[in-house]
Amino acid sequence: MDSSNRVEAEILLCQLSELEEMQAIELEIEQRKLFAIRQDNQLRAYWNTCPHLGIPLNWMPEKFLDLDGSLIQCSSHGALFQIDSGECIAGPCTGDHLQQVELRIDGDSIYVAANQPMPAAPINLRAQALADLEDS
Ligand code: FES
Repeated sequence: MDSSNRVEAEILLCQLSELEEMQAIELEIEQRKLFAIRQDNQLRAYWNTCPHLGIPLNWMPEKFLDLDGSLIQCSSHGALFQIDSGECIAGPCTGDHLQQVELRIDGDSIYVAANQPMPAAPINLRAQALADLEDS
């Protein structure tokens, strides 16, 4: 497992034309999840980690928006985030921001840019518990 907290190489995320307005797409890079939403013909991308507890925002695949479809909503405790800035405007982490994913745009192709920081890998509690058992 790669323990570095950087995206080493550029990765194709999608073709912008494949997405409808306000449609989301997800991708996983070395156990870190990210998502992107098409808004106003642009793609806004964030690491899928809520600033409140550091857990993924969504329960359902590619479902990130509130009932109005105008804000990103965390499914755990309801924090609401602006789509264009990632700023939390309501909920337990108000004022915090989602961590933006840097993209590179080449025509219709959207890439996750290389050489950018990414969140720490999630801890696998089950694997950790089994390793601890073996050690004892
Ligand atoms: S984990 Fe997202 S609001 Fe609590």
